[in-house]
Amino acid sequence: MSHYLFDSDAAQTAGRFSALEACYDPVSRRQLELIGPTTGWRCLEVGGGSASLGDWLGERVGTEGEVTVTELEPRWAASRHRPDHVRLLRHDIVHDPLPGTDYDLVHARLVLLHLPERLEVLQKLVGALRPGGWLVLEEFDCGWTPVLAAPDSSSAALFDRVHAALMSLLRTAGADPLWGRRVLGAMAAAGLRDLTASTYAEAWPGGSAGIALHRHNVDQVSGRLTASGVSTTELDRFRALLHHPDFVINSYPLISVRGRRPPRKEQDDPQTLRGVAPAATRGAAAADDPAGP
Ligand SMILES: C[S@@+](CC[C@H](N)C(=O)[O-])C[C@H]1O[C@@H](n2cnc3c(N)ncnc32)[C@H](O)[C@@H]1O
Repeated sequence: MSHYLFDSDAAQTAGRFSALEACYDPVSRRQLELIGPTTGWRCLEVGGGSASLGDWLGERVGTEGEVTVTELEPRWAASRHRPDHVRLLRHDIVHDPLPGTDYDLVHARLVLLHLPERLEVLQKLVGALRPGGWLVLEEFDCGWTPVLAAPDSSSAALFDRVHAALMSLLRTAGADPLWGRRVLGAMAAAGLRDLTASTYAEAWPGGSAGIALHRHNVDQVSGRLTASGVSTTELDRFRALLHHPDFVINSYPLISVRGRRPPRKEQDDPQTLRGVAPAATRGAAAADDPAGP
C-alpha cells in the first residue's frame, strides 16, 4: 500500500499537476536535453503524473523508440491521447515488478521524495538501466522556501507556520522533504557514475501558477492540518496570502541529478567495483558503449 500523502485520486490532483507542469517542465526538459534522448531510445518515466514529460520524451524517441509512463493513479494522464509507442501503466514502483529492463533513460520527478522505500526504489531503477544508461532524478529540497516579500510582518510567520505543519504531515507519511539534497549522494552510493546536479528556483508571487501548488497541497490535507493544530482562520489567511500580489516566496528548489550506470566493461572490472576506476579503464569502457552519448 502506498502512503503517498497527496493521494492522486483527490480533486486537487489536476491543479497540482498543472502547477508542476507550468513551473518545472521547462526545467526538466532542459535537463533531459543535456543527455540527448533521441530516435530509438527506450525510456521509463516513473510516477509520471499527467505524463507531460513522458509525452515529450515520446516525441524525442519517435516511433522507433518507446516510452513507458508508470503511475499509481493514471486516470489524469489517460485523458490525453498519445501514440502507441508511449505506454501508460497503472503501476506501483515500490511493490510491482519493473515493466521492463535495459532502458536508455529512466526519469522520475518528485516521486522518491514521497516514498519511505526510496533507497530500495533507487536501487530498482538503477537495475532497470542498460549498462551506460542514464538515471535522472529531480527532487525538491523543501527546506529552503524563504518569504521574499510580504505585505506585513505577520504574513511571513503565518506562511512558515502552515508550511512547517505541512512538512510535518509529509514526514509522518514517510516522505523526506529534504530528499533533494541527498539524491546525488544516494545515486553515488547506488553505483552510478558521471554524476552531475543543478538546482533551479524562482520567485513565486501571489496569484502565480507556481504558488498555487501550496494552495492545492494545503486544500487536500486541510483536515489533517487543523487536526495538527493549525486553525481554520490561519488556513483562510494562508489561502488569501497566496493570492496577494505583494506576497512573494521562493519556489521549492528542484535539484536535478543525472548519472549513468557504468558501461559493461567497467562493471565487470573488480577495481571499478571497489570504486577505483583507472583512467585507462574508463576510456576503454566508454569506447565499449556505442549507444552512450
Ligand atoms: C508530486 S507528484 C509528481 C508527478 C510528476 N512526476 C511531476 O513531477 O509532475 C508524485 C506522483 O507520484 C505518484 N506516486 C506516488 N507513489 C507512487 C508509487 N508507489 N508508484 C508510482 N507512482 C507513485 C503519484 O501518484 C503522483 O502522481
